[in-house]
Amino acid sequence: MSNDYILEVKDLKQYYPIKGGIFQRKVGEVKAVDGISFAVKKGQTVGLVGESGCGKSSAGRTILRLQDVTSGKIQFCDQDITNIKGKALREARKGFQMVFQDPYASLNPMQMIGDIVGEPIRNYYHKSQKEIEGEVKDLLKRVGLNEQAYYKYAHEFSGGQRQRVGIARALALKPKLIIADEPVSALDVSVQSQVLNIMAELQEDFGLSYLFIAHDLSVVKHVSDYICVMYLGHIVEQGPAEAIYSRPQHPYTQSLISAIPEIRPGQKKERILLQGDLPSPSDPPHGCPFHTRCPIAQDECRLEKPAYRQVEPDHFAACILLEEEVFPQ
Ligand SMILES: Nc1ncnc2c1ncn2[C@@H]1O[C@H](COP(=O)(O)OP(=O)(O)OP(=O)(O)O)[C@@H](O)[C@H]1O
Ligand code: SF4
Ligand SMILES: [Mg+2]
Repeated sequence: MSNDYILEVKDLKQYYPIKGGIFQRKVGEVKAVDGISFAVKKGQTVGLVGESGCGKSSAGRTILRLQDVTSGKIQFCDQDITNIKGKALREARKGFQMVFQDPYASLNPMQMIGDIVGEPIRNYYHKSQKEIEGEVKDLLKRVGLNEQAYYKYAHEFSGGQRQRVGIARALALKPKLIIADEPVSALDVSVQSQVLNIMAELQEDFGLSYLFIAHDLSVVKHVSDYICVMYLGHIVEQGPAEAIYSRPQHPYTQSLISAIPEIRPGQKKERILLQGDLPSPSDPPHGCPFHTRCPIAQDECRLEKPAYRQVEPDHFAACILLEEEVFPQ
């Protein structure tokens, strides 16, 4: 992996077994993540988008090794973390953290905020209470809360403030990569941009890289350098944010872009509405995963999973109707 990258994911799969019968034997599997490949550059933000159930959270949790990997490879900095366990995994975890969607559920209501944020430091380092308190108060300031927040409890805060606490906790071990799983989806629109601005400032100050998970493109648009569009466990298109917005190539990305409300009033844009529901990842369609809903599907789309075509530098899409150079997916 080149030095410019902090994370490289290759052909990653996360299949969950479906068990049934009195012996709870495996009777099938949910192919939540079905062979995704992408990379995150140092100091940059990669947005991972797609509709509910397409496997975004499974991808995030698997990359951070909160779940075991079915197959594929995860390279973090210069370490292959795909199958590391025990001490090695615990040590590697200092480098990457997750921020969760629901700031209400992810904070223990019985614990003082100072203890919640300081917990990772306490778990990893032998530091005095005074030292930890100093570090935690500094972290709280960095996320825009005052020192008094240290002595409060989660219920005393608004959703936006709780998410700031979640971010402060994720920063406690000075990670290099943060996977933020829909960090603002549960918040009021008015506070979403405040939290996004804090994340941008922290990125600058700490040189952080983000994998930013969201279900709609309008949020990732403002924060991402590079975007991966996920559909039914696959990344169907990936490219620089500007290219994805101005020149989407995959019909699925085109439908997502068409759903973003107009920025300039009066500008007309045709909405591409998809027919049908997202197929089940336990019984995915053969061939192109999108063929059951694709408005321009052909007979041959049912035959094989399309390989990536490179449509311009760093911009790839998996659709057989694109004729540029073919790259293995
Ligand atoms: N632990 C699990 N065991 C079995 N199936 C799971 C598990 N976690 C997720 N799934 C299934 O895997 C698929 C992908 O789920 P996942 O939560 O990763 O999607 P998502 O893109 O994050 O969706 P959302 O936008 O709703 O958060 C879904 O069909 C889901 O039901
Ligand atoms: S390969 Fe076929 S079904 Fe898939 S996106 Fe392209 S045209 Fe649509
Ligand atoms: Mg999710």
